[in-house]
Amino acid sequence: MPAVNDPTDLPWWRHAVVYQVYIRSFADSDGDGVGDMPGITSRLPYLRDLGVDALWITPFYTSPQRDHGYDVADYRDVDPLFGSLADADAMLARAHELGLKVIVDLVPNHTSDQHVWFQAAIASPPGSPERERYMFRDGAGPDGDEPPNNWPSVFGGAAWTRLTEPDGTPGQWYLHLFDSTQPDLNWRNPEVGDELVDILRFWLDRGVDGFRVDVAHGLFKAEGLPDTVLRDPDEDAPASMVEAAGVDEPMWDQPEVHEVYRRWHEVLAEYDDSEVGPRMAVAESWARTAEAIARYVRPDELHQSFNFHWLSAPWSAEAFAEVVTETLASLAPVGAVPTWVLSNHDVVRHVTRYGGGAQGLARGRAATLAMLTLPGSAYLYQGEELGLAQVDVAPEDRTDPSWFRTKDTAKVDIGRDGCRVPIPWGGDAAPYGFGPAESGDQPWIPQPDDWAGLSVEAQTGAEGSTLEFYREALRLRRTFAETAGTDVEILPGAPDLLVLGRGDVVCVLNAGTAPAALPAEAGELLLSSGDDPDGTLAPDTAAWFRRA
Ligand code: GLC
Repeated sequence: MPAVNDPTDLPWWRHAVVYQVYIRSFADSDGDGVGDMPGITSRLPYLRDLGVDALWITPFYTSPQRDHGYDVADYRDVDPLFGSLADADAMLARAHELGLKVIVDLVPNHTSDQHVWFQAAIASPPGSPERERYMFRDGAGPDGDEPPNNWPSVFGGAAWTRLTEPDGTPGQWYLHLFDSTQPDLNWRNPEVGDELVDILRFWLDRGVDGFRVDVAHGLFKAEGLPDTVLRDPDEDAPASMVEAAGVDEPMWDQPEVHEVYRRWHEVLAEYDDSEVGPRMAVAESWARTAEAIARYVRPDELHQSFNFHWLSAPWSAEAFAEVVTETLASLAPVGAVPTWVLSNHDVVRHVTRYGGGAQGLARGRAATLAMLTLPGSAYLYQGEELGLAQVDVAPEDRTDPSWFRTKDTAKVDIGRDGCRVPIPWGGDAAPYGFGPAESGDQPWIPQPDDWAGLSVEAQTGAEGSTLEFYREALRLRRTFAETAGTDVEILPGAPDLLVLGRGDVVCVLNAGTAPAALPAEAGELLLSSGDDPDGTLAPDTAAWFRRA
């Protein structure tokens, strides 16, 4: 493995920009209002021209779509909603032809309740080998009619659902950290680990370049399934993974999980010399501390872990500097490369998190530029290159299980539909080129009626557009990403300025409310996220300079 600071011959994922494709909302080839695999294939040239290195595609496997694909019924096939295995192969071949890598999503913590294993489990008696693949337990209380412990589901309500046995009597309970249609697998059963390795090989053999590992800090649960400490007994659910990760819980981040990733590392390494090249895996691990996350990327485990700390940080130069310092410090001992992300399909889009409107957009662009300065991989979420904001989805159009599970409770979670609205590609009205449907026809989540100016078509070639800004930032990033090394300096500057130095690039971000004097290191201007600086940098703006 190359040394961290060796700029030569680095595997692609050590400095990649990865574009997240939420398949249901990217491009719809057949006009059913839901995106699909041929839709992705048709838009690959757009991604190449945008200047990304890779795409990560959210789950497209056979699934009843209760959690939009994160409930997998068959890990080795493509859901007819999205196409066929042949369509997946064609997409992969075309991506590789265009020089793009492809990361697929792997969901090892739970299956769909429609998976053959779960169907066999509920048709089999308690204690049977079929039940041993999941987390079945007898209920508590004299009649067994209380859940086995107090664990909450991330999506609201209890993490346990009671079965009705085939003879109609109330039966055992099964664990689901997410929706009741997503039963958790029993990772203490070796059959589960073997099956997941077989699934890894299935996709590696087809030529995928990597995996995004869903809920990578899940899988193992503490022995004996002890009760957790609920922060507020009146609130039975954490509002999101962000909150769930803030609690010391026996269902997350158990030490045994690392054995799994050591085994996967070996499997992936077997493919290093294959025609496709080195493969990688990135963990979605909402573990509590930077140190806990670093454990997932020790040299013999996964290659990367998402770093959600910037995404959770407020708009503040100090907070951003702290995130950068802590991230790099936590990864240095394990020699792993950092990752950076501001938006994904589970969180409020960053333009909106930063206040929305023109100011939110300005801040979003500035934060993106600062993030793209940094070593390691940057993950972009579809639509952020268009400056899309979170959409306020009407209650009757919401589809997220967390909405359905909480809408009648004291702690309503409106869900994640607002960041999953289909992409506007062109035209004046819905579906804005998302699919071939009649003008005015809405896709699976309705698009706002003021999106015409935000479409790819409207922004292409338009001076100052967010799309052209992303294209230019990615083009420039290519000139230094591989060669600038992994050291980052946090340079001194005026209050509220974040000044990052990497190689001969200096990034200055103004998180204050007044124009600020540029630091001495800011030489020739390379790119600004807003108005070009002229001795001072406007608030809510970031710029790249050649180091003076
Ligand atoms: C991950 C996914 C999220 C999904 C959940 C359950 O957090 O990103 O979308 O709902 O896992 O699989």
